[in-house]
Amino acid sequence: MPVDGWVRAVRVQKEITFLNINDGSSLQSLQIVARPDLDIRGITFGSAVEIWGKLVQSPHKKQSIELLADKIRLVGACNSVDLPFKIKERHSLEYIRQFPHLRCKTNVFSSLLRIRSEASAAFHSFFKDNGFVHIHTPIITSNDCEGAGELFQIEPASKTAEKQNNAHFFDVPSFLTVSGQLHLEVMMGAFTEVYTFGPTFRAENSQTRRHLAEFYMVEAELAFTESLKDIMEVMENLFKSATSFILSKSPDDVELFHKYVAPGQKERVEQMLKNSFQVLSYTEAIDVLQRSMETFKYEPKWGCDLQTEHENYLVEYCGNIPVFVVNYPYDIKPFYARDNQDGPQHTVAAVDLLVPGIGELCGGSLREERLDLLQSRLKQHGLKDTYQWYEELRQFGSVPHGGFGLGFERYLQCILGVENIKDVIPFPRFSHSCLL
Ligand code: 4AD
Ligand code: MG
Repeated sequence: MPVDGWVRAVRVQKEITFLNINDGSSLQSLQIVARPDLDIRGITFGSAVEIWGKLVQSPHKKQSIELLADKIRLVGACNSVDLPFKIKERHSLEYIRQFPHLRCKTNVFSSLLRIRSEASAAFHSFFKDNGFVHIHTPIITSNDCEGAGELFQIEPASKTAEKQNNAHFFDVPSFLTVSGQLHLEVMMGAFTEVYTFGPTFRAENSQTRRHLAEFYMVEAELAFTESLKDIMEVMENLFKSATSFILSKSPDDVELFHKYVAPGQKERVEQMLKNSFQVLSYTEAIDVLQRSMETFKYEPKWGCDLQTEHENYLVEYCGNIPVFVVNYPYDIKPFYARDNQDGPQHTVAAVDLLVPGIGELCGGSLREERLDLLQSRLKQHGLKDTYQWYEELRQFGSVPHGGFGLGFERYLQCILGVENIKDVIPFPRFSHSCLL
């Protein structure tokens, strides 16, 4: 059986030529030792090759084995002159971002994608080990779960619509989902603990280093829970367990980031794993922020959403340990959040998890299970006729419940120390950019 891969390095010496080939399974390349009689014409950095030979112990310290080649076949030549990546050069994430069709061929981005794949396995494994049922919530939906109006509406392309003589394919306006939460709430009513992990979409026009128009969200929903603490415990365990899983499964790939992309990140991650996450109420958080009012561009005010600069300040205030902010103002959270029925500063049982370098990583809440309170809240939001099915869930074996959503790309940024969210997803989509 031949060995297949792409050439990462060519070193021509007097007698022999050394090739390093890589098939994407790990950061490590296999060294090929090619005798002078072998035909290696046209083989350059980036070529796809197929090689027959014998695997032997390597005399070199850097690798345990090497392949003494008997036959080398050039499968696909590479115009290495025009290839935007150069042999032996370390390119920045920002530079390679310009080439979404080629950047997976660099060491750093292939490491990132292998880590992303392990991280995905880590989340599934956590939920499986803890008895959660995986639900495929729909991508196409007729609801705006967050009520923020950041929806992408979908319609058939005009030609298809003409053919079908049908402008509204589903008869009702339909959208790409912003969150699978409401569908999970349906399922928690039969399976107790459920989760989903898939793409979500937001038509947010924010050009920031932590927003995408298409991102992946891990969402969990738990029945029979009356305390935000239960939800926070799952968030913290999920974060810590997935991170330990990734560190143990992909040490070399993670090391590349912790050594070259974000020096000091290894220690920061260790701190997050070692310490208990902190907790602040929203009201306490506002007090803390107001004490340093002059630091901020946006004034921290009770009743307003926390800005990224506020979130980052709070994380630093807590010693760079992730911090839960709990009990947000009633008026700034969606209709489903459970009313704390307190006052005069009226709050709901909602929680955000803020992490170093990113700010908000997770958002969650207890859900309003009391029919009368839910109905009046829906009425307030002008949603009375939209959510009859959601109200009905409160009439057929309703239970106190709650859940949360974790932004998968922000999670990867957080553990790897990657500045820009566009560098942790294979094909980033954001306003004015939908390449490929
Ligand atoms: O806080 P959000 O909006 O919460 C929800 O959607 C809830 N319905 C989830 C639930 O309770 N099941 O979003 C959850 C997380 C955020 O904390 C953030 O990490 C991420 O999703 N997120 C984004 N990530 C990248 N780009 C965007 N535009 C994002 N918007 C939210
Ligand atoms: Mg949020």
